Amino acid sequence: MTYSVVAIDGPAASGKSTVSRELARRLGFSYVNSGSLYRAATWWALRTFGRVPESGELLVQSLIEAGFYAGLKNHASVVEVDGLKPGPELFTEEVNDAVSAISALPEVRSLLLGQLRDYVGQDSIIMEGRDIGSVVFPESPYKFYLDASPQERERRRAAQGVEDSIAKRDRIDSTRKAAPLKVAADACVIDSTSLTLHGVVEEILFRLEQKGLVVTKAAK
Ligand code: CDP
Repeated sequence: MTYSVVAIDGPAASGKSTVSRELARRLGFSYVNSGSLYRAATWWALRTFGRVPESGELLVQSLIEAGFYAGLKNHASVVEVDGLKPGPELFTEEVNDAVSAISALPEVRSLLLGQLRDYVGQDSIIMEGRDIGSVVFPESPYKFYLDASPQERERRRAAQGVEDSIAKRDRIDSTRKAAPLKVAADACVIDSTSLTLHGVVEEILFRLEQKGLVVTKAAK
């Protein structure tokens, strides 16, 4: 049995999560938000060290000792640290503010890279993130890069009532040395600034079909 991976990358608040969830529903694939692994590592770092540790090695050691698990349970992505399943704690202002610094640590990235690649032995997946098409699954033929204007992205995040440092995260995510946010050479770029959710999803489904992925029209 071979599984398919659809990679959806892009900057903060570009619509990746909503689009990816809907795509997963339409295709009957499992949905994985790779950001939740980085957020869980950040939540654990703040809880354990009270700040962003300078050494990625120290944090990785602490995560391994505590037990860091990421995988699919009943087709849903589950992330656990020390037997705990953090939920809303992953989206606090403190985590938003620290997550890009933690994600820039190469040791953290290599630990999570292995965990992210392991998802694919379990089901066909839609995985969203920053480096899914470029680093995690470069061999996947199904790569998309969602973008939207900075103003539109700030507006979307504010509409969610969330305090977020979008511009700061974008800057750190795209300039870091390890797996920076960038458009994979063979990715299809979609600017969602003036598109509806439905419009983006239909565009991606159309392109997937063109690339030979069988798209069932069952669930609308
Ligand atoms: O807020 P948004 O949904 O755009 O971000 P997220 O997907 O929850 O990711 C939070 C942060 O994790 C990003 O700003 C990146 O610093 C980091 N991340 C990463 O470095 N690589 C990934 N594949 C996914 C997320």
